[in-house]
Order: sequence, then structure tokens, then C-alpha cells
Amino acid sequence: HIPLPPPYRIKVVEPIPFLTPEQRRDAIETAGYNPFNLRSDQITVDLLSDSGTGATSSAQEAAAALGDESYAGARSWFRFRDEVADLTGYPHLLPVHQGRAGERILFSSLLKPGQICVSNTHFDTTHANVSIAGATPLDLPCAAAADLDSSEPFKGNIDLEALESTLAGPDGSRVGLVLMTITNNGLGAQPVSMANLEAVRALCQRFRVPFFLDAARFAENAWLVQQREPGYQDWTPRQIATRAFELADGCLISLKKDGLTAIGGLIGLRDDALFAQCEANLIATEGFSTYGGLSGRDLERLAVGLREVVDPAYLASRAAQTAALARMINDAGVDTIQPAGIHALYLNAGRLLPHLSPSEFPGHSLGCQMYLDGGIRVAELGSLYLGELDASYRVVKPAPFELVRLAIPRRVYTAEHFEYVAAVLGAIAKDPERIRGYRIVSAPPLLRHFKVRLTPI
Ligand code: F0G
Repeated sequence: HIPLPPPYRIKVVEPIPFLTPEQRRDAIETAGYNPFNLRSDQITVDLLSDSGTGATSSAQEAAAALGDESYAGARSWFRFRDEVADLTGYPHLLPVHQGRAGERILFSSLLKPGQICVSNTHFDTTHANVSIAGATPLDLPCAAAADLDSSEPFKGNIDLEALESTLAGPDGSRVGLVLMTITNNGLGAQPVSMANLEAVRALCQRFRVPFFLDAARFAENAWLVQQREPGYQDWTPRQIATRAFELADGCLISLKKDGLTAIGGLIGLRDDALFAQCEANLIATEGFSTYGGLSGRDLERLAVGLREVVDPAYLASRAAQTAALARMINDAGVDTIQPAGIHALYLNAGRLLPHLSPSEFPGHSLGCQMYLDGGIRVAELGSLYLGELDASYRVVKPAPFELVRLAIPRRVYTAEHFEYVAAVLGAIAKDPERIRGYRIVSAPPLLRHFKVRLTPI
């Protein structure tokens, strides 16, 4: 059995820079040791995010040339709407410029101050937008998620017992929304099973709580369901995705991921009154309801991208690319959350750097070292991102794990780029004790990781 290569070839390329070690040291120092402050022309391999960073296809660019930029009722809107309606089945669709705009609009209409939003895991902006709406985000990941090394197939699931006891308990009447993130980006890119979604739906119906999907990676979740969940082997990824949308009352989607475009988002709804409220907010803040902050050209790219992303050959090759990178990294002596998901790998920095305490931010230290040694940009997902700090930025409650996320842009890097990443990591893993910790110099109160500044200890 010979594994197939990716089902595309490269037609347009973009040069990437190779800086000297001295230039990289200057760049990261000037950035306050925060990778979000680096310039892209200082980065050789950029694994900061899989959001809006994918390559478009020649078919998408051809469609974009047909983009209709009419202020209202553009042809491109109807093409996009028909495609999304066919995929999701939702009667009401609102375009937004990206996922978090959808979060703001939905939560400000649906959640009341004092309410609780329950999730398998809220993504960072989702968490922030729930809080901004005056509600409290509550994460109830399944117990299996806590074992980073186990190969359980659906570690993205919500803990159903905890969800039921929350809904039936004293706080139950305050739960205003159950939001399932597929795949679970905050917890290792792990998928959610259809059985879990069905059980969540049943509980939400019993307790009369709205159930929504945060479906940024709906196609990748569908692929992992087809591969891992008994009973779905004969379904197409698209059929599985459609079934997931059918189970929920609505969805939020950042289309910058599985929309295969640089920008875009979507709110899908069944409820007429909620739609009217969200639409009024959309028109006031994002744009008229037939473009929602997107150009006709973007809507055209999306209509095509949403078909390309559910192609089994594409999903198989993308999953194989991530799995191959995981194997190389593991062979080089760095553990990753098991089993490998699709859009990202999560390095166990706490285990690689036991000489650094959570207060020295081992995940951040590893990420900085990857930049210093190889010009590779990654994101910390540990105590810098999730830990509780006191007024002088000392860690009072560490994150459960010290992780580093290597997000994989879609259709962008080749096998050689991933070999390079694994080689840089392998060299670090040979002598991890040389890596120093960091301390925070300044940090904002909300969404700390984006604007924090640090210095080596
Ligand atoms: N929900 C999930 C699960 C996400 O992963 C993201 C973004 C959003 C919502 C917000 O969407 O960026 O379009 O406003 N995730 C990116 C990432 C930024 O790198 O994981 P957005």
C-alpha cells in the first residue's frame, strides 16, 4: 500500500526569509519575547495559527474574479448562502468577517448577565466574549482529556455526567447555552464523537437549553469521526458534518479555518426571534446581512472552499501530514498530546523542561527557543496563557499542562518544512537544560497572551 501525496500541486509561491541567529535574537528581544509581536518577514516557518493562513486553490481564485460587490443582494451572497444552507441545514444564516464577530453578536443576543455558558472547552476569544456579555464560561472536558498520552479516540468530548449534574443542579437554571467546540482547539485538537453530540442534544432538549456548535474545524472533526467512530465508515465527511449541524440549534463558524480562506465567519440559526435580534446587531456593527463585513470575492472563495475542504483525499492527506510530523517529533524525543489531531500538534513542554517551574513558563521558553534556533513561530498554551497570576505577575495557579501548539496552515508547507521543524526540535531535545525561563514585564488583564511582554530570567 503506497500512501498518496497531497491532491494538489503548487502554482504560486511566496518566499520565506532565513535570518541569522543574531538577527533572530534581536527580533525576539525587540518583540518583548512575544511571538505575536514578530513581523512575518522575520519568520521562516510560521506555525502560530491555522487561521486565515491557508492557501487558496486556482478554482477559488477563479470564482473570486466573479465576485459581486453590490451593497445588498449580491450574487456572491446567494452562491455562498446556498452552499452553506446545503452543508448545515440552518434556515437562517448571517455572514460575519470572522469567528469572534459571530461570538459577540450571538452572545450579546442570547446570553444574559449572570448566566453560564457550558462548553467542552471555550476557545480564548469565545471565553472572552462570553465574559464580555456578562456571563460565565464553564469548561467541562471529559476525564480522558487529562491524560495527554492516552490514545482514546475522542478526547475532545464533554463530560456528560458533569454536564447533566450542572443542568440538574442549583446552577442549572442559569445555563443559557451549551457550546461544543469541534474539534477541541483548547485541548489538543481532539475530536468530539457523534455519540457525544447526540447525548448533549438530548440533555439540552430535556433541560430546554440552547445547544450550539463552535464548528471552526467541522470538516476535520468529521474526518476523525469517519476514521475513529464505529458506524460512520460508510459516511462521507460532508454527510457527517451535516449530521453534526443537524443535532444543534445553531452554530458559530470561523471560516478562516475549514472555509479555506483568509477571512470569514458565519452564524447559523433555527430560531426566528434570535435571528431577528442577531441580524439587527449585524447590520449595525458588521454590515448588511448579505455581506456581513465580507467582500463578494471572499464569499465566492468560501463557496468553493467549503466544497474543497470536505474532499476525502484532501482531508486524508492533511491528517497524514500532521501524523507524520507527530511521528518525527516523537522520534526526536519530544512528547505530543496523543493521538495526533489534524490542525495542530501540542508539545508537552512541561515534560521536556522539568527544570523550569510553571512560574518560569516552560512552554513559552520552548517556543522562544524554536524561534531562536530555527525561526519557527509557535504559540504557548500553558501558564502564560491560562495560569492565574497575582498583581506582580507571579503564577498563583498554574495551567493544568505546559504546552506549545504547532498549528498547521492548510496546503501551505511541504514535507521538507516539517522535517526542518522536527530537526530543530530534535536538536533542542538533545540538550533541554540549556533553556532558560522567562518572567513577565507587563501584561493586559484580558487575553493576556496577545499583548504580554517578557524577559529571560
Ligand atoms: N472558535 C475556535 C474554536 C477557534 O479556534 C477560533 C480561532 C475562533 C473561534 C475565533 O475565530 O479567529 O475567526 O475570530 N482560532 C484561531 C487559532 C485564532 O489560532 O486557533 P476568529
